[in-house]
Amino acid sequence: MNKKAVLAFSGGLDTSVVVKYLQVKHGLDVVTVTVDVGQGDDQKKIAAKAKSLGVVKHYHIDAKEEFVKQYIFPSIKANALYQKKYCLATALARPLIAQKVVEIAKKENVSALAHGCSGKGNDQVRFDITMRSRSNLPIIAPIRDMNLDRPTELEFAQRHGIKIDNVAKKFSIDQNLWGRAIEGGVLEDPYKEPPHDAFIWVKTKNLPDKPTYLEVKFQNGIPVQADGKSLPPIKLIEYINKKAGGCGIGIVDHIEDRVVGIKSREVYETPAALCLIEAHSDLEKMVLTKHETKFKSLVDSEWAWLVYSGLWNDPLKDELDMFINQSQKRVTGTVKLKMYKGSLRVVGRKSKYSLYSHDVATYGKKSSFDQRLAKGFVELWGMQSTEANKLQKKR
Ligand code: ARG
Repeated sequence: MNKKAVLAFSGGLDTSVVVKYLQVKHGLDVVTVTVDVGQGDDQKKIAAKAKSLGVVKHYHIDAKEEFVKQYIFPSIKANALYQKKYCLATALARPLIAQKVVEIAKKENVSALAHGCSGKGNDQVRFDITMRSRSNLPIIAPIRDMNLDRPTELEFAQRHGIKIDNVAKKFSIDQNLWGRAIEGGVLEDPYKEPPHDAFIWVKTKNLPDKPTYLEVKFQNGIPVQADGKSLPPIKLIEYINKKAGGCGIGIVDHIEDRVVGIKSREVYETPAALCLIEAHSDLEKMVLTKHETKFKSLVDSEWAWLVYSGLWNDPLKDELDMFINQSQKRVTGTVKLKMYKGSLRVVGRKSKYSLYSHDVATYGKKSSFDQRLAKGFVELWGMQSTEANKLQKKR
């Protein structure tokens, strides 16, 4: 009997090629694991594909609920946008997938772990580090180890009778409930606008002529209702993806710094993520003090960087989570978003913990804010700056 390896399997080009490589080059039997984090793939097709590749066993694990509650929700609380743009859809899913693969590896008593990541991306970092944190088994990454490129893979796939669909030939896609990442092909020219057919979630033509409103209620930093309806976590994300995507919201196109030092042009569809983070951070500004808001933005960007760079399991992330969770105790309230032909804007917010006081802020009559007190405050506030300027002039 051959030794076994367990492989994180999506059914796409890379992981299909890897199954064959493990069998042919390493003489290993392959156990495949597909972790469903909302890719929207037909699981029966993936299982059939695994079977056609001759795997000895295939697992399908539905981890959608865990993904939303344990990964997406914390990222909303952290307003997590890497380099202010990327909602970390892929980055959040990797540690969860890797953890599930290790669990199966223990159960199946295999001698190696495997993944289909290349040596150029971030996913290898996320898979390797989570796997190493949870297991001592060797990690085989054939695409990286053999320095394979896509044309070589496509050729290998054809030679071994592995079927690849047309979208996969055009772009490299990774998708889950939180977003869809589109890479490769024509998108590698950073000056070229992405073609319409790159997008599936976001409508780019014939958008509605009237604005659409979306109301989101948060409780302790977590979205619990959309448009007045209490929805379970997965449904809520799906609902917003569909509604906002239909209004042209959710496309992100930016230059991203990968962990390994490469600058890449990244295109995403992330309607729910953009709406929820926009709404959540707006609500925070209403309920947190200015000191909390200022400090939390530092914590948030560190959190996003840790997750992006594969350090989901670093103790620092837990420590930041403690701060973030404490800060969310008052992040309860409702935010109203307006969407119109691809533009997104917060147009209203309310909370029982609001620090906004109409009475204080109003320019109208009868404000309780005594303007006369401001004079002395401003003098003290600017004391050092005005003095420094005066001295500079003298010299
Ligand atoms: N740049 C993003 C990230 O590092 C998306 C990666 C998409 N992965 C993929 N295998 N196509 O998280």
